[in-house]
Amino acid sequence: MEKDVERVLVDEEVIGKRLDGMAREIRADFPDEVILVVVLLKGALVFASDLLRRIPRMLEIECLNVASYHGGTSSSGQVDFLDHKLPEVAGRRVLVLDDILDTGRTLRAVVDRLLEEGATEVKTGVLLAKDREREAEVEAHYVGFEIGDEFVIGYGLDYRGRYRNLPYVGTLKDEAR
Ligand code: XMP
Repeated sequence: MEKDVERVLVDEEVIGKRLDGMAREIRADFPDEVILVVVLLKGALVFASDLLRRIPRMLEIECLNVASYHGGTSSSGQVDFLDHKLPEVAGRRVLVLDDILDTGRTLRAVVDRLLEEGATEVKTGVLLAKDREREAEVEAHYVGFEIGDEFVIGYGLDYRGRYRNLPYVGTLKDEAR
């Protein structure tokens, strides 16, 4: 697997330090509440599990299966909700976690959907935000790292379902595509 990595963009140690900071920011913004966290699968799996274990507070963790890449290296433009039932968010402040903010369509669609379901407020956290113009207007309240506009793998991010278990974020060699 490692032989397919072209360049490491953010290594494990740097990710860990930044997650400490993000956890502090989140704790400060949700001082006395039970935090309802919605993790977007599958990309945010690794990020969320490392981040949420740094928040020593009462959490309720829900997952939402959404798809927008459909296996390739660019967004399909369509956001599909794959679950039969959405988490119960009515009357709650919600923290949504995703792996990466790219066009913005996924987070926009999820935030809109949770607000429609009655969430009182939706805060968003992403490990990575691509430095590019968004196609949908959306704010990420907690951002781990800003990266260039290139396709990345590792730490939850995949290419055709693989590489999610790399402990760092990197780019993929052309010959591995
Ligand atoms: P949008 O464009 O909706 O994208 O902001 C968010 C979703 O698209 C996936 N995505 C990526 N997946 N490497 C990946 O493995 C990438 O560079 C990348 N960029 C976007 C991801 O699922 C994210 O939730």
